[in-house]
Parts: sequence; structure tokens; C-alpha cells
Amino acid sequence: MLRTDIVLFHTLTVLAFADGHEGLHVHGPLGPVVAQLGGSVLLPCFIESPLPLEGLQVEWRKKDSDSLVSLFQQGKSRPDLQSQVFKGRVDFFQDELLKGNFSILLKNVLLEDAGGYRCKVNTSQGFTEVMMEVRNIKYLVVTGAERAIFATAGKDVVLNCSVDPRVPASEIEEVTWKKMDREKQSDISVLLYQDKRIYSDFSHESYQDRVHFFSSEIPKGNFSLKLMNVRMEDKGEFVCEVHTRNMSGLTTVFLERIGFSALHVSILALCSVALLLSMGLCLPAFHNLRRNVPNRKCMMMYALLILCPNICVCAAFGLWSSEGIFSEVIICSAVSIGRPIMLMKTAPYLDRLPCKNHLKHVQKVVKSLAVPLYYSILAIATCSVFFDKLLQAQTAYEHMITLMAVVITVSLIGAVILAIFDLRMYSTVCLETFNGALLAIFLHQSRKDYFELCSIRIVNNPCIDHIPITATLPPLIISLMILLFFQKHYFQRKPFRCLHIAVASAFVISYSLLDISFFVLIGFIIRDFATVWIFPVESVIYILAWLAVICLLRSQRLGCCAQRRGLGYLCCVVIVMFLIIAIGALCLHFSTEAMEHKKDHAGYVALVVLLHVLAATSLFKHPKHLPEFLHIMIYMFGSVGLVVLNSLILVVELFLKAGKGVRTVGDLRVIVLPFETVFVLTWLALLICSAWKRLQVRIKKNFEDGKVAAAEEIEVLPVRSS
Ligand SMILES: *[C@@H]1O[C@H](CO)[C@@H](O)[C@H](O)[C@H]1NC(C)=O
Ligand SMILES: *[C@@H]1O[C@H](CO)[C@@H](O)[C@H](O)[C@H]1NC(C)=O
Ligand SMILES: *[C@@H]1O[C@H](CO)[C@@H](O)[C@H](O)[C@H]1NC(C)=O
Ligand SMILES: *[C@@H]1O[C@H](CO)[C@@H](O)[C@H](O)[C@H]1NC(C)=O
Ligand SMILES: *[C@@H]1O[C@H](CO)[C@@H](O)[C@H](O)[C@H]1NC(C)=O
Repeated sequence: MLRTDIVLFHTLTVLAFADGHEGLHVHGPLGPVVAQLGGSVLLPCFIESPLPLEGLQVEWRKKDSDSLVSLFQQGKSRPDLQSQVFKGRVDFFQDELLKGNFSILLKNVLLEDAGGYRCKVNTSQGFTEVMMEVRNIKYLVVTGAERAIFATAGKDVVLNCSVDPRVPASEIEEVTWKKMDREKQSDISVLLYQDKRIYSDFSHESYQDRVHFFSSEIPKGNFSLKLMNVRMEDKGEFVCEVHTRNMSGLTTVFLERIGFSALHVSILALCSVALLLSMGLCLPAFHNLRRNVPNRKCMMMYALLILCPNICVCAAFGLWSSEGIFSEVIICSAVSIGRPIMLMKTAPYLDRLPCKNHLKHVQKVVKSLAVPLYYSILAIATCSVFFDKLLQAQTAYEHMITLMAVVITVSLIGAVILAIFDLRMYSTVCLETFNGALLAIFLHQSRKDYFELCSIRIVNNPCIDHIPITATLPPLIISLMILLFFQKHYFQRKPFRCLHIAVASAFVISYSLLDISFFVLIGFIIRDFATVWIFPVESVIYILAWLAVICLLRSQRLGCCAQRRGLGYLCCVVIVMFLIIAIGALCLHFSTEAMEHKKDHAGYVALVVLLHVLAATSLFKHPKHLPEFLHIMIYMFGSVGLVVLNSLILVVELFLKAGKGVRTVGDLRVIVLPFETVFVLTWLALLICSAWKRLQVRIKKNFEDGKVAAAEEIEVLPVRSS
């Protein structure tokens, strides 16, 4: 039987008086011995030097009743002579005798065991004895479960805790149920009963509304806890602590195993289906891709491969919401549901679809819209975490965040619309704008007390800390746009139409307006407009720079010198890459810094990286010729590898959590998103390679054009001079 009765403040104090005779000296306990009612207590009695066994007699007696506790005589133990009260409750260690150790272990301690004890040792060399007193101070019997408990996730379970029925319920002042955390050496409050009232508000948030006492049973001293909707996290030790005015006691109930609920089984089933489907289709798909025959049957197979496993994984992540945190669940589901779009774009067969009109249309849409759409799905999922908080804006600082939300919405919609018209540059600028605005919201989220600090404290104001990032990001994005302009219209000599001027002017004007609103809002919040002088200056610079660019591009005579074209183009491309990386690094740096103390910080960082890589990907035109084998490998990694990885990660995490009761990887995004990033990055690398090849051809052509132009100039010059 598993005795879990532990009695607090119940101490059996054993006082010892050593009494030496004729050179023999027997030792007792050094200090008070603490024991538990119903537990065991060792009553020590030993001599320093070993003794011969012959003639040895060890006698343990209780002093008050003179009843025999234990007797060792003529080389053997004599349980037959033992007093009835101690029958079967005393262990005498025969192996220890030779070492001169005559201690006994008194088990299943009773209240009547209190009192004095005597350990008498008689040998041929003499006689010695040691006395000890066991004093009973306080006790309260609290009974818990007889065995460890098993529960099923999602079901209810009763954790027994009943107080000694001899104690009237009216005398019980307080009963607390606590959940122990051995690793952290701490406990959390589960439920409190005090002064005949149940305090549910006192419960930790994870137990709020999930725990009850049986009110009708309380008068009987039954303080059993009903734990409803059991979760994996509940696994572990629960302690029921009972206090009366002068006594207290406790019992421990061990919730040893939590069984899988129907929900968990569904997660496992969905993951297995995804695994089986993607593994099963992997080889045939690979084979067909290599053979390169786009017939109807193959197309069906490809569609099955990219749709079904991802939908299963997405559903599995959705069900994971019972265990995971909201932002993790929603992002992981969004990644899975958006992945087929990305897979269609990276599909090697995209260019070989049968030449039917509607398919051609699909092909075109996929080519231009896949990345912005995938990005939008992730972005909407990311923002959905914040939406409810944004709607309740009241202070000026919260209005700034609402402003960011507007920027986010406009830039997302803008990115998709611009991508429809194949204005990739502008689309990328929109996505980067989104990243900047998202960062602003992250920063806000990272400190809940932010707006209070902002409006109350002027010195050391946290709003001022973030002025650098607010002031640095927009110019970087505007310069990115202007550079892209030069690259395209100045060096590549693409026509510069009113449409381009209009779209880009819209950007410049909105950024100027944004800066002005920063100026007003931050100035208003910190009540010091001089500190934020940078914002209006910035907006003036944007407008001037933009006017200069328009003049330069519109004036045909100022067309760039033909020989410099290739070099200028290359410079622009390098600086654009550098700028994108710089913006990414800034976002990463600030979100890392801001999120450092939050538990989902790593997940956000992983997300920021993926979003930046996607933004960079949207800059590139859909490539025409790619190395076939690499292309197929990347596609297979995306369609099979990622699904297999995601479902395995989910299954492993589920089993680990069932085993340990706590999450192993606190946030699945930390694993899911980096793999997704690897997939998009390899695709980006392919795009860059393909763009580089096109660029080389173009530079060569430009140089040839340049030579022709220069030759013409030389030919023309003498004519003029003459
Ligand atoms: C005597 O034996 C008991 C039981 O093995 C042991 O717990 C105790 O420590 C021993 N005492 C000494 C002094 O060796
Ligand atoms: C010790 O034991 C011997 C015989 O074994 C006995 O004669 C003697 O009386 C005993 N002494 C005490 C004090 O019990
Ligand atoms: C505790 O207090 C109650 C009444 O107040 C009394 O009857 C009981 O004997 C006390 N118990 C102890 C161990 O002092
Ligand atoms: C809880 O108490 C009830 C009633 O005494 C008993 O039937 C049940 O087995 C106990 N449960 C456990 C787990 O000990
Ligand atoms: C306490 O009461 C509940 C509800 O009636 C019952 O399920 C449980 O077994 C009781 N526990 C004990 C130890 O009697």
C-alpha cells in the first residue's frame, strides 16, 4: 500500500540519554528525529567497536508500559515475545549486529507510539543502555489517493483528499490544493478553501474554472478536488494541505499519466495520413518529374501531392490549439495552408502545363501572385494575434499603433494589387513597408505598460528609445525604391511612364505623411516637438529627392552615358541587395531586443526572417530556364520534405508532452519556420542565379550598344565640326 500521509508539524522528538557502564558505551540519536504519522522512524542505538555475538542480548522496551518492542537473544531475534502493539511493525537489522548497530526501524507510526524508549545491551563484557523519549506534538490525518492516478486528456478526474473524520469540519480553517513543480522548486495555487468559503479567483489562470470542491461533501471532511478537462500539463504532483487552528496536515496525489484524448488521436491520425501520402507519392512524383511528361494523370498526382498532405498538416496544427499557444498554432497552420501556393510557383511543370486558355491564365496568376499571396496569408495570420488589442485604442500612443495597422493593411493590399499589374518593385517596397509596420507593432506588444510610461514619464521615456528605428526604416525603404527606379528606368532604359510616376509618388507622399504623423503623435506623447525634428526634415528630403529623380528620368537628354550603363546597373543591384539585408537585419535586431523577455520571442524572430526572405523573393521575375535537377530537388523538398518534417515534429512534440507533461520545444514555430525559410531561400538562390545569367547577357548587350553608340558619336562629331 502506498502511504502518502505526511503530517506537517508532526514531529516525533526522540530524546536520548546515553548511559555508559563498564567501558561499554552505547550511542543514541544526536538530536530530535522528525517522523511522519503512518511513516517509519529509525530509533538509533549503536556502539563504536564491534562485539562478539555470543552472550549478546539486545532489548528494546517502551518505558511507560514496559512492553517489549524488540528482543535479540541467544543469537536470534524473538518476535514471539514481542508485545502485541508492536507486532509486525519493527525491523531489527541482524546484518548490522556485527558492526555494533542495534537500531530498530519502527514502521507505520501510531499516536500511541509516543513516549520513552530504552535500548538495553548486555554482553559478556558488560551491560549498557540508552534512553530516548518520543514526544508527540501535533497531528492531523489527511488521506489522499491510495495509488497513482491515471486520467485521459479532456476528461474529468477526482483527486481524493479527506480529513480525519474525528476532526469536526467547523474546525478546519483552510484547505489549499497546490500543484508542485519539482524542477522549478515551486508550486502554483489550484484551489483555496478558507473560513468556510471557496475562493476560485485565487486559482492560477491555468486552473481557473477547471477545479471544484464537492460542496455537499465538505461537512464530511471530504475535500476531494474535481479537475475537469484534464490537460497534459496537469501531469505531476498535487498537494492537499489542511490547517486547523493548532494542527495541520497534507497529502500528495500523483497524477502519473495522462492518456491521449480523441483530439490527440486525431492529430496523430492526420499526421500519419500526411506522412503516408507524401512518402507514398514521393517516388512516383520524382520519377514523373524526371521523365517530364505532363499528362492528365501526372497532373492529378501532383495536385494530390501538394494539396492533401498540406491540408492534413494544417488541420493537425489547428487541433494542436488545445496544447499550443495561439500565435504558434495560427502561424503553423497558415504556413501549411499557404504552402501549396508556393509549391505551385516552384513547380518544375508550371511552364509545361497543357496549352489551354484557362490553364495559361492560372499559370500567369501563379507566376506573378504566388509570393505576395503566400506572404499575405502569413501576414494576416501574424496580425490576427494583435487585432483585438488594436480595436480598443484610446491614448495617443495606441493611436500610433492603429496608424501602423492602417499602414499594414494598405501595404498588404497594395502589394497584391501591384503584383497583379506585374509592378514587382513596388510590390516589394510594399512588403518591406509591411515589415516595418509589423515591427512597430511588435515593439508595442513587447511592453504592455508602454503607453502608460509614454504618457507619464518624460525623462527616460521608452518612446524616445524607439525613435531611431522609426526614423531609420522609412528612409531605407524610400532609398530602396529610388535605387530600384534607377536600376530599371535609368540604367536598363525601361520606359518611364506616368503610371510609374503616379505609383512611386503615392509611396513618397504616404511616407511623408507617415513621418508627419510620427512627428505629431510622438511629439504630442512626449510633449517635446524639438526632439523629433528628424521626421519633418526626412519628409522634406523624400519629396526633394523624388522631384530630382523625376526630373532626371524625364529629361531625355540626360540619359546615362552608354559605357557606364552596365556598371551602374550592377551597382544599383548590389546596393538594393544590401539595403534589403540591412532592413532585414534592423528588423531582426529590434524584434530580438524587444522580444527578449517574452516567451514566444524566438518564434517571432523566426517569422521575421521568413517574411524578409519572402519580400526579397517577390522582387524577382519568374525565371524561364533553371537547372532542372536542382529545381526538382527544391520542389521535392518543399512538397515532401517539409510535410514530413512538420508532421514528425508535431507527433514527436505530442509524445514528449504526454511523457513529461511539459512542452519540450516551447514553440513549434522555432522549427517549422526555419525549414520553410530554407525552402524559400533555396528558391531565392535559384532566382538570383537565373537573374545573374540574364544580367550578364544584358550587360554584354549594353556594352555592344555602347560601342555602337560611341562609334556613331565619333562618326557624327567631325561632321558637326566641319
Ligand atoms: C544501523 O543500521 C541501519 C539499518 O541498516 C542504518 O540505517 C543505520 O544508519 C545504521 N547505523 C549506524 C550507526 O551504522
Ligand atoms: C546479562 O546477561 C547475563 C547472562 O547472559 C546475566 O547473568 C546478567 O544478569 C545480565 N545482566 C543484566 C543487567 O541483565
Ligand atoms: C487543538 O485545539 C482543539 C480545540 O481548540 C483541542 O480540542 C485539541 O486538543 C487541540 N489539539 C492539540 C494537539 O493541541
Ligand atoms: C477515492 O476515494 C473513494 C472513496 O473512498 C475510493 O473509492 C477511490 O478508490 C479513491 N480513489 C483513489 C484513486 O484512491
Ligand atoms: C468525496 O466525494 C466525491 C463526490 O461525492 C467522491 O467521488 C469521492 O470518492 C469522495 N472521496 C472520499 C475519499 O470519500
